[in-house]
Amino acid sequence: MNSLNQNIKPSTLKINKNGNLEIGGCDLTELADKYGTPLYVMDETSLREILRQYKDAFKDYPNINMMYASKALMTQGIARVVDAEGFGFDVVSGGEIYTVYKAGADMSKTMFNGNNKSVDEIGMAIELGVGRFSVDNFLELSLVNEIAKSKGKIVDILLRITPGIECHTHEYIQTGHLDSKFGFDLTQIDEAIGLIKDEYKNLRLKGLHAHIGSQIFELQVYYDEVGVIYKEIKRIKDVYGIELTEVNLGGGLGIKYTSADVPPSTYDIAKVIIESIEKHVKEYDLHEPKIYIEPGRSIVGTAGVTLYTVGSSKQVPQGRKYVAVDGGMADNPRPSMYQAKYSADVANKPNATDKEIVTIAGRFCESGDILIKDIELPKLEEGDILCVYNTGAYGYSMSSNYNRVLKPAMVLVNNSQSDIIVERETYEHLVSLDRVPERLKSAGKIE
Ligand code: LLP
Repeated sequence: MNSLNQNIKPSTLKINKNGNLEIGGCDLTELADKYGTPLYVMDETSLREILRQYKDAFKDYPNINMMYASKALMTQGIARVVDAEGFGFDVVSGGEIYTVYKAGADMSKTMFNGNNKSVDEIGMAIELGVGRFSVDNFLELSLVNEIAKSKGKIVDILLRITPGIECHTHEYIQTGHLDSKFGFDLTQIDEAIGLIKDEYKNLRLKGLHAHIGSQIFELQVYYDEVGVIYKEIKRIKDVYGIELTEVNLGGGLGIKYTSADVPPSTYDIAKVIIESIEKHVKEYDLHEPKIYIEPGRSIVGTAGVTLYTVGSSKQVPQGRKYVAVDGGMADNPRPSMYQAKYSADVANKPNATDKEIVTIAGRFCESGDILIKDIELPKLEEGDILCVYNTGAYGYSMSSNYNRVLKPAMVLVNNSQSDIIVERETYEHLVSLDRVPERLKSAGKIE
């Protein structure tokens, strides 16, 4: 069976009677008019669809806590939809914890990940009832224990391990191979368990956690990941007589940015994971564990598009034609950071037949600020609305105010209704945290 991450476009995208693109029943040119551009548009139907496809894929394995990796996109509105669909949250910072908490989500279903959690963040996570900690290193083991002790709490933990699995994705987003900043090397597990058993009485070890990378198209790596974790669980049982009952397999399922991408579906990944668990549980004579998964990109990626207004253009003599839009690397750093590729359409004339190959340039002061290289599109003119697909994940969440440009607004569309879920920044927001020392004020020009 297919799932939404295998499509380039949100599931409600169509061409309406005015000949414009619409998503969630909302005409994209009208959204651009009403809210301005750049504009992030999230389709609630698509978001719920993929969440349900994950649940459906794992329905034969009910002992699972599906979590959404907040780092892909976290706002209170998104958290409410995700929580309402029964997902927990993978959180990696005080900011993500706070947002999930403010959204009223079930904190017992959250897991706190990360390789350098601060004392304040650990304290906050314990206070707000975060369900699990994935402990990454020795310092953190001692900190979480100490802070839990000072609050009179026992904290449930998983140990993050580096499983030594290479997957073929961009080097920056691979995490499961041995030379990685994340997690315990398998050779360090005994020391960690020794400390938990003998000294860290405020920690309760529940299981192991691994994450092998992001934008993954292979299934075998998940099969192997389960195998590596199970071998370790078996070893721990043999050596210590403790059977760990929880296994967090991380996230990583890829999405289709362009027609060249062929990711597996949620059903394919669930099948492989369950098969591997069943095989290893039997082989090692263990109990079926509670599984955690924490996909991010595949949940919000396809549901999101970004709208831009077309501005200036430049034809390089005998070279490329650059067409600039009113956003770029600050609202979507992925093309410049990872050479990521995207697909796009023109919202106000999706079917125009007069086409040309152009390069979509951003508005930021860097030659590297190119959103899409060499894409065939209807001939673009100033004022056209460009719709870039698949920007729901790691766009807004990695956005910046580079060049002191304001961050775009985000709307959630559904049933012909659009609601702001993130306000557009204003110049007042931009300067609101600036402070001018008194001595500079008195030096002259600034009142
Ligand atoms: N769990 C852990 C421990 C992770 O580190 C990540 C992503 C996820 C889950 C979610 O992975 P996903 O399902 O989204 O692939 N900024 C990069 C992606 C970085 C991913 C970091 N970790 C990008 O834009 O491609």
